[in-house]
Amino acid sequence: MQVELKSPCKVNLILNILGKRPDGFHELETVMHPVKIFDVLTFERTSSGLDLTCDNSALPTDSRNLVHRAATVFLGEAKVKDGVRIHLEKRIPMEAGLGGGSGNAATTLIGLNQIFGSPLAPEILQRIAETLGSDVPFFLQSSPAIAIGRGEQVQSLPTFRALEGYHFILIHPGFGVSTPWAYKNLARFPSALNGERGRAERLVQTLNRSIEAARPDFYNSLEAPVLEKFPLLAIFQEFLLENGAAMALMSGSGSTTLALINGKEKAEQLQEKVREKFGSSVWVGSVEV
Ligand code: C5P
Repeated sequence: MQVELKSPCKVNLILNILGKRPDGFHELETVMHPVKIFDVLTFERTSSGLDLTCDNSALPTDSRNLVHRAATVFLGEAKVKDGVRIHLEKRIPMEAGLGGGSGNAATTLIGLNQIFGSPLAPEILQRIAETLGSDVPFFLQSSPAIAIGRGEQVQSLPTFRALEGYHFILIHPGFGVSTPWAYKNLARFPSALNGERGRAERLVQTLNRSIEAARPDFYNSLEAPVLEKFPLLAIFQEFLLENGAAMALMSGSGSTTLALINGKEKAEQLQEKVREKFGSSVWVGSVEV
């Protein structure tokens, strides 16, 4: 039996960091939204072992790959005697703040549970997901969500009324940002490091009214270190806002900039303008919310 699953990515509409914890992680509150840009994972049972392949040779296929790590933990926990072949088709930009690798890890847990006859209960999958990375539990579900803790405590939400008809524009500058680097360098920005609790909840409320109401609540603490090091990302935001975007923000720890614009036609026009202005070294996508 072969199972093929689409592995989505996400953007953060707010990423509000509340402080550094004794375990080295940062306490945060975030609103995450799924984005319909996908990697594709295929799973097939074999007689033994774990065989991972990927169409992008830049990505290792050993234990440095989150798919490999997720599969190893799953096979151990589920006490699977036979093996699995997994193939990953990579379409989502990497080190991009879009959670592509985290999504791959969660999709691997879901896919393996499917082909082996659901040996693991949802609570066990959640626990494994938490150990694989802070963003992995979000991808065990498929709705917008608010997340707290280090990002692993996820509460699913209904779709936001204010975003009906809107499109995401995503710009990837052609380079990545290291997540540990971004968090470490927050230390130089005390006000960004110690955000005021409650802002994510407020964004959820305003997103159920209108984009205008929500506008002041789109925020990302990690912009402080990342935009300082990469001013091009601030230039992207300025350009997007000048050309009709309702908001523009860095997603996660970067390097992707996201924007929201109303209607398919306007989104496609803006996408074209970004291509003309910034050239082919920049990747730009437009997708319905
Ligand atoms: O959990 P994940 O593996 O995605 O985290 C990658 C790195 O990002 C961590 O090692 C840590 O440096 C940083 N991080 C953090 N606080 C969070 C999430 C991530 O400091 N809430």
